Amino acid sequence: MSVQNTAVVGAGTMGNGIAHVFALHRYDVVLIDLDEALLEDARGTIERNLSRQVDKEVITPDEKAAALGRIALASDTAKGVQSADLVVEAVPEEQSIKADVFRTLDEHTPGEAILASNTSSISITWIADQTERPDQVVGMHFFNPVPVMTLVEVVRGQRTSDATFDTVADVAEDLEKNPVEVEDYPGFVSNRVLMPMINEAIFCVMQGVAEPEDIDTVMELGMNHPMGPLTLADFIGLDVCLQILEVLHDELGEDKYRPCPLLRRKVTAGQLGRKTGKGFFEYE
Ligand code: CAA
Repeated sequence: MSVQNTAVVGAGTMGNGIAHVFALHRYDVVLIDLDEALLEDARGTIERNLSRQVDKEVITPDEKAAALGRIALASDTAKGVQSADLVVEAVPEEQSIKADVFRTLDEHTPGEAILASNTSSISITWIADQTERPDQVVGMHFFNPVPVMTLVEVVRGQRTSDATFDTVADVAEDLEKNPVEVEDYPGFVSNRVLMPMINEAIFCVMQGVAEPEDIDTVMELGMNHPMGPLTLADFIGLDVCLQILEVLHDELGEDKYRPCPLLRRKVTAGQLGRKTGKGFFEYE
C-alpha cells in the first residue's frame, strides 16, 4: 500500500516530533489535538526544531519551509483523519483514552488505512481489538527526540498482517529511521531493557550507594551512555517511567520489575523530571 497522507493524533512531545519527521520526508500530515493551545505550541516547537536543523546544516531553509507547509492542524479527530492512509496515535498512556481514539479512527478513516500506535507499554493486540480492523493495527514506537533518534520499534500485534507490518517498516525507512521488528510483549524490547536499568539507578540513590550526579557519571563515562540513567529518567518523565514499570511488573509478574519506592515518592510529590522543573535534578 502506498502512503502519502498521514495524521498524528496527540500534539505532545512525541506527536510533534513524529509530525516533524513525516513532513520533512515529504508526507502530508494533519497534526490533531483537542487542545488548540497545545496545537499552536506544537507548531512553534516544530518550527524551532526545524530551525536547529537548518542551523546545523542538516536541512536547507527551503526544506524547512516545505516541511512546515505540509503540516495542517486540526482539533476535530474525525475530520482530521478522513483522508489518511496512515495514522499514528501519540496520546497519553491510558487505556480508556487509547480505546476512544482507536474507535474514532476506525470509524472515520478510509477502510484501507493503517492505524499505528506510538505506545511504549500498552498491548498492540489489545488496542487492535478496539477496532474492526485488527490486521491493520500495528505499533510504531519512536524515541525522543524524534528528529534525532534513528530507531523505530515496529510492533506486531497478534493479528497484525504482514502487509501492514511491511508498509509501516517501509515508511520508517523512508523517514531515515531503522525499523526493528518486535513482538507484542510488555515494554517491547526498548523499555523492557531500559526501565530495569533506570529503576536500579533509583534504588542506588535510595540506598545511598552514590549521589545522583555520580551514578550518572558512572554510566556516561564507564558505559559511554549519552545521558546517565537519572538524567534520562527526568527527560522521559518519572511518571512515564513508573507507569511502564507498573505494566512490566503487573504483566510479567516478576519482582525484578517492582518500581523503586523512591520513584513512587517523587511521582506522588509531583517531581516528574524536566517537565515540572524538578526530578532527580533541577531545571530552569
Ligand atoms: N529536534 C531536532 N534536533 C535536535 C533536537 C530536536 N528536538 N534535539 C536535539 N537535536 C539535535 C541538536 O541540534 C544536535 O545536533 P548536532 O549533533 O548536529 O549538533 C544533536 O541533536 C545533539 O543535541 P545537543 O547538542 O543539544 O545535545 P546532546 O549532544 O546532549 O544530545 C540528545 C541530546 C540527542 C537528547 C542525547 O543526549 C541523547 O541521545 N540522549 C538519550 C536520548 C534517549 O535515550 N532517548 C530515548 C528515550 S526513551 C523514549 O523516547 C521512548 C520511551 O518509550 C520511554
